Amino acid sequence: MRSRWLFLVFVAAASLGCVPYFNPPLEDIAKLGSLKDVMAAQATITDPVWTKIDDRAYGERDWLTLRDVSVRILATSDRAEAWSRGSLFDHYDAALGAAAKDLGAAVDQKSADLAAQALIDMRRACRACHDHVR
Ligand code: HEC
Repeated sequence: MRSRWLFLVFVAAASLGCVPYFNPPLEDIAKLGSLKDVMAAQATITDPVWTKIDDRAYGERDWLTLRDVSVRILATSDRAEAWSRGSLFDHYDAALGAAAKDLGAAVDQKSADLAAQALIDMRRACRACHDHVR
């Protein structure tokens, strides 16, 4: 019964063109088999933290989450290089990796403003690459 329900949810999500939830652990990211998988992972990993751009009252759990986003998004940006579509792609992929590193540095300093700025840069890299390359 439960699996049937989950199946229907899956079909509904697929037919709406939703991005699948895909949350690979760090050690699996270098082995992802397609750019689509990398993108689904990037969307799943970053989705919960965009609200932290405006809401900057971070607690311990938020810092842990942001550290995880930094480390795993950096790994996805490395993995995406395998499917380069040329110099613009490389440029924005590097921008995404740089923003992920900035986020890690912001977590080291526990600076909410620097973390929010890194997230803004990250989102800009996603959008710019989609606008110019996809
Ligand atoms: C370096 C370029 C680049 C960057 C940076 C990038 N993407 Fe993508 N993204 C692509 C390309 C190219 C595709 C299309 C892949 C395909 O269909 O084969 C794509 C597809 C997607 C998709 C698939 C669903 C759709 O709307 O087509 C999602 C979701 C996605 N990206 C999320 C993200 C998120 C979130 C980020 C930032 C954390 C990001 N991407 C950063 C290039 C990029």
